Amino acid sequence: MAETLSIPAGSSKDEMYRALLPQIAAVIEGVADPIANMANIAAILKEAFDFYWVGFYRTTAPENLVLGPFQGPLACVAIPFSKGVCGAAARKQQTIIVPDVDKFPGHIACSSLSRSEIVVPLVAGGATQLVLDVDSDRLDAFDETDKLYLEEIVGLLRRENFEAA
Ligand code: SME
Repeated sequence: MAETLSIPAGSSKDEMYRALLPQIAAVIEGVADPIANMANIAAILKEAFDFYWVGFYRTTAPENLVLGPFQGPLACVAIPFSKGVCGAAARKQQTIIVPDVDKFPGHIACSSLSRSEIVVPLVAGGATQLVLDVDSDRLDAFDETDKLYLEEIVGLLRRENFEAA
């Protein structure tokens, strides 16, 4: 397994994601433990993009998310499906991009420095297994490029056996 990331200098966001995807796939290939894979994905995204916060919330009880592997400042531990951007993405089973968190009703402010956010759910067997949450300290940091590639990255976890966690 490669232990350092290869990130082409001066790349566009699209190029960076395209360079990272095979590296992420290689890092998690053959690793059955989803927590280990979530931890490495969070580390890779944080290192590559220097996002303010990047991490996972897992559905550990019906309609309830609990903090999983992450990189960044201390975060809220429990988020019901009825609350926040994470809860909304888990409930609607679709990616949500929030250009300005102050304008999202019910946004949960784990940190006042977070200004925009994207949350990508992983749905398997009709149920939301987890969400990937990425926060930026800049307004309007996320777009369709992030959605496209982060959905692909989260999709890599689909093959893993979450029941084994
Ligand atoms: N802002 C999220 C909560 C999680 S933190 O950003 C790490 C939300 O509204 O669901």
